Amino acid sequence: MAASIQAVVLAAGRGTRMKSARAKVLHQALGAPLLEHVLRAVRSLPVDPVTVVVGHQADAVEAAFAGRGLRFVRQDPPRGTGHALQVARDEIAAHPAKTLLVVSGDVPLLRPETLLSLLDVHERSRAAATLLTVELDDPGAYGRVLRGTDGQVRAIVEARDASDAERRVREVNAGIYAFDVALLLPLLPGLQPQNDQGEYYLTDVIGLLRSAGRSVHAVKASDPAEALGVNTVGELSEVSLILRERRVADLMAAGVALEDPASTHIGLDVTVEADAVLRPYTILEGRTTVASGAVIGPFVRLVDAQIGAGAQVLDHCLLRECVVEAGASIGPFAHLRPESHVGARAKVGNFVELKKTRLGEGSKAPHLSYLGDATIGPGVNIGAGTITCNYDGRTKSPTEIGAGAFVGSDVTLVAPLSVGAGAYVGAGSVITEDVPDGALALGRARQVVKVGWAEARARQREEGKTTRE
Ligand code: UD1
Ligand code: CA
Repeated sequence: MAASIQAVVLAAGRGTRMKSARAKVLHQALGAPLLEHVLRAVRSLPVDPVTVVVGHQADAVEAAFAGRGLRFVRQDPPRGTGHALQVARDEIAAHPAKTLLVVSGDVPLLRPETLLSLLDVHERSRAAATLLTVELDDPGAYGRVLRGTDGQVRAIVEARDASDAERRVREVNAGIYAFDVALLLPLLPGLQPQNDQGEYYLTDVIGLLRSAGRSVHAVKASDPAEALGVNTVGELSEVSLILRERRVADLMAAGVALEDPASTHIGLDVTVEADAVLRPYTILEGRTTVASGAVIGPFVRLVDAQIGAGAQVLDHCLLRECVVEAGASIGPFAHLRPESHVGARAKVGNFVELKKTRLGEGSKAPHLSYLGDATIGPGVNIGAGTITCNYDGRTKSPTEIGAGAFVGSDVTLVAPLSVGAGAYVGAGSVITEDVPDGALALGRARQVVKVGWAEARARQREEGKTTRE
């Protein structure tokens, strides 16, 4: 694209039909706000600057997108899509770009390729405006696109303002336009709120351009989903479903084995390599990465987790902000909390929780453990039921366990504490003092055995006495 292009994204509307206190563009689909999807499509093109018109819950919307190099303009109160451009007029005029791309903030299924072809047609036809349209079987509440005999767009009429004949038109306005800035700006002050909603409609600009003898073109998107605007919670769920289907289809095309795409949720910023296997009901969120050969699920949720090649995360695990190295095995029923790191070929078994803990290469914590603030070397065995007592009610203290140590079952390690390399800790111990390398530590009551005790008690009972032992 030769000419420079700037963009305005409309995100000020109240979203009344969502019946929600939250701004519509902050509602989430596939783990990201609606506006995020739209901005990604816009910013994948050579478009600069990008101005976002905010109004309803402006502070929250600006905060959610701060530090992203966006310009914000406030429209308060929002009085229609035309009014949104009126308030952005100075920002638009301040930039020399010849073409203005206007995109609704509530159309998250829009694809970059579609924007590109809209801009391409706009430039090549030298039109005053070019809009994106789709053809719908049920055009519902969308603005109807009225074409003249020359095939050009004559006007857009909102469904609620349309005649019966106009309402039967199935080509609708997607709310995405390219404008010639020099021709658009002079028309904005002339918009009139003469419609059913008493709002300033951007769509009226099309009729005004035509009356002024300018040309208006339309690009019809082949996939009608691209124009799906989110206006209700029901539409949000429809759009979420399509986003999810697209995402899993892309991954399968790239060689990721999804056993049950319908129950698999994968966020926008997740990376999954070819030959990874995602079993049913797997949810991957945030910046999670899954390397080749890893097997995840069923019923697993990973948030900002890095899973190494060939590792497995078995049934019913939750992992957040952690690293699992190649060949390690997690679960079933494990919980890895932030800053945990499981070394290559290590094993974290059922009902084990790790917090801020490093488990060395090939080490094992197979059953029923809590390991917090611990640094555990390679080749260590942690017996069933062993826990670190890392918290005394005020401060968190570290536990260190050296290479090759063997910690027996049901051991309580009271931190701060170190267990040396190759040391042994007997089952059932409460360990409060450091254990040197190679030592055996026992911290439990000595066993007492009273031979014949049961029989003696029975005899005493018969004689009417009570046994107090
Ligand atoms: C709009 C179009 C309609 C089109 C449809 C496509 C108009 C008048 N109508 O209708 O032809 O078929 O989109 O989805 O433009 N917004 C503001 N300020 C406002 C009002 C809205 O920034 O004062 C923003 C909203 O946040 C939203 C976008 O503009 O992101 C569209 O507004 P919405 O009220 O959803 O318009 P529709 O009624 O869907
Ligand atoms: Ca809409």
